[in-house]
Amino acid sequence: MPKKTVRDIDVKGKRVLVRVDFNVPLKAGKVAEDTRIKAALPTISYLCEQGAKVILISHLGRPKGAPDDGLRLDPVAIRLGELIGRPVRKVDDCTGPEVEAAVESLDASGILLLENIRFHPGETKNDPHLSQRLAALCDIFVNDAFGTVHRAHASVVGVAALRPAVAGFLMKKELEVLSGLLSRPERPFVVIIGGAKISDKIGVLENLVDRVEKMLIGGGMANTFLAAQGQKMGLSLVETDRFAAARSLLSRAKARGLQVVLPVDLAVAESQAPGAPIRVVPADAVGEGWMALDIGPETVRLFTAALAGAKTVFWNGPLGLFEQPPFDAGTIAIAQALPGNGATTVIGGGDTVRAVKRAGVMEKITHVSTGGGASLRFLEGKGLPGLAVLQDK
Ligand code: 3PG
Repeated sequence: MPKKTVRDIDVKGKRVLVRVDFNVPLKAGKVAEDTRIKAALPTISYLCEQGAKVILISHLGRPKGAPDDGLRLDPVAIRLGELIGRPVRKVDDCTGPEVEAAVESLDASGILLLENIRFHPGETKNDPHLSQRLAALCDIFVNDAFGTVHRAHASVVGVAALRPAVAGFLMKKELEVLSGLLSRPERPFVVIIGGAKISDKIGVLENLVDRVEKMLIGGGMANTFLAAQGQKMGLSLVETDRFAAARSLLSRAKARGLQVVLPVDLAVAESQAPGAPIRVVPADAVGEGWMALDIGPETVRLFTAALAGAKTVFWNGPLGLFEQPPFDAGTIAIAQALPGNGATTVIGGGDTVRAVKRAGVMEKITHVSTGGGASLRFLEGKGLPGLAVLQDK
């Protein structure tokens, strides 16, 4: 069911609390990567143009429920001001007299950014008292933080239940693209799933097994699939408690005639230490004392062939130890093999986005999801707490 958006509610002169996902990388006290800030601009600008009083709330990083000076949102306020071309006032808390006074003095079309909400221990516990204090600051709640919609937190779920709650434009776009993948993908539809652990992603694979033509599995999680089939994986990361899930997925895929492509060769090393000797071996010949750290060239060839002619691709997760070259080679080669020319290509997750950028093929991507974890949870098809509380259209 589509959700109401900021266009479906009268915001003029109202205090509008907007949950944004400004969880961005910082370096030397500055915003190092501003994609998520840019992605929220259409909603913020629209609200300003409509004469709303705009109060922004976000988390940054994972502070332990207490102030952490390295995770304050001041650099974000500066970058947002530069991007939006309007003054952005920042306060040092999310509740309390200073914040109430700042909201009180906010003019129509003014923008106020609150401090990192995760400095409050009640945020991640969805504490009703914190939710009430947030609700007291606003007349309307807008969620434009797609990246946090899978979190049942006070600034995502608790406050939304206490005020008329609608989606922002970024949220709307993410939901349209991702629900399109589930309901009406152009075929063939190929999914590429990598990353370290099968436990984070098995739910997505299970939900997609009936919806895609091919599944390409790489990264650390492929080791668990290989080991579950009896292959010796040496020192590689393997989740032994997930063998049953891996086997069950493979047999469901087989019953459906779905092609699951696992690595047939691997780049292995005795340790992750820079300079440790590397070998490429068949996937069933990872020696004792060696660990798989990337897919090998034959696997790159197989994945590339599987991607040829794909009309829809969803990719989440690197195919090797991407952050440590040369183990980024497989991931970058697959980024280069993504289809262009009218195919729908959706990517999510920080490493996947970095890989596609590093490979210089961003122009092939039709949608970069701002939520790695959130897009996976969405594609699991089990519902998202932050969505359930928004008004239906
Ligand atoms: C993200 O970076 O995926 C979102 O901002 C959510 O952050 P979290 O995983 O710390 O909840």
